[in-house]
Amino acid sequence: MRQTDLLQPDRAGIAKAVAHLRQGDLVAFPTETVYGLGADACNPTAVAAIYATKNRPAFNPLIVHVSDIAQAARFAHFDATAQTLAAAHWPGPLSLILPLKKAHGLAGLVTAGLNTVAVRVPAHPLAQALLAAFDGPVAAPSANPSGRISPTRAAHVLKGLSGQIAAVLDGGPCDVGLESTIVAPGPLPRLLRAGGLATDQIEATIGRPLKAPDAARIESPGQMTSHYAPNACVRINAEHREPNEFRIGFGPYTGDVTLSQTGDLLEAAANLFDLLHIADKDGRPIAVAPIPETGLGQAINDRLRRASAPR
Ligand code: TXA
Ligand code: MG
Repeated sequence: MRQTDLLQPDRAGIAKAVAHLRQGDLVAFPTETVYGLGADACNPTAVAAIYATKNRPAFNPLIVHVSDIAQAARFAHFDATAQTLAAAHWPGPLSLILPLKKAHGLAGLVTAGLNTVAVRVPAHPLAQALLAAFDGPVAAPSANPSGRISPTRAAHVLKGLSGQIAAVLDGGPCDVGLESTIVAPGPLPRLLRAGGLATDQIEATIGRPLKAPDAARIESPGQMTSHYAPNACVRINAEHREPNEFRIGFGPYTGDVTLSQTGDLLEAAANLFDLLHIADKDGRPIAVAPIPETGLGQAINDRLRRASAPR
């Protein structure tokens, strides 16, 4: 347990929040939709701490928050539709799913290994000030324990996470109170999640209807098996190593690479997607050492089970 600072919405509060983020600590901050649980999106351990703190049972990809389009363009590609949408609705409650640039620099856990990233520019003045001062991408899901109601006041954040995060920046109540609308631009722009920006406003901007998510696709990408499967077959809970396998170790189980030599689950989560990509490039079948089903181990095992599912 640690003391969670309640930071005031002034220059000193913002400076303190930025210092926490730079150190890899978690800071909850207000957006116009809900309070977000923020971490430096380029710091793998900080991003892993988001999942640990929320107690998320699975690695759903996170939304990356930036101060403007120029900052987003450092790591994501905008096609014409994405540009139009961003110009019309940012800052605001709209998240865009965009292809990642090659040297994007984001932690693998932010996108859960996908080659796209969810990005938004929040409109809350305090979020704007924080992101401008931090001058980098901040990954943030809603600042509540998994399965609980999203927080729209600093007090809600403290109720759920006090003692578990470095600080909450107090920006008063959120105006929208509903998470951002998520749209995937591209040749057939799709609505992935209804939210704080009305669909008809988005359709008016692009001059065409959005393709609604069909029932089968409504689930989040974190729940989809095929999205994540490496090309090679994956064997989990592998205590022993077969001669032709590429082995991902953990703790006492050594390998070609290791999730964490010391058996640290936070470090393992931070390394997971990068190592799966490396293993996939190797070409041999992949064997992963046993991971305990405790804490972040649940989400790690959930991901590994999907990767190893028959297909
Ligand atoms: O209003 C909001 O959007 C709030 C505030 C804090 O900004 N954030 C939020 O984050 O609601 P979260 O983690 O609860 O929702 C992220 C959603 C998930 O449904 C996830 O599946 C989707 O975004 N997502 C993230 N990256 C994606 C990607 N590359 N492709 C498709 N969906 C993605
Ligand atoms: Mg949420």
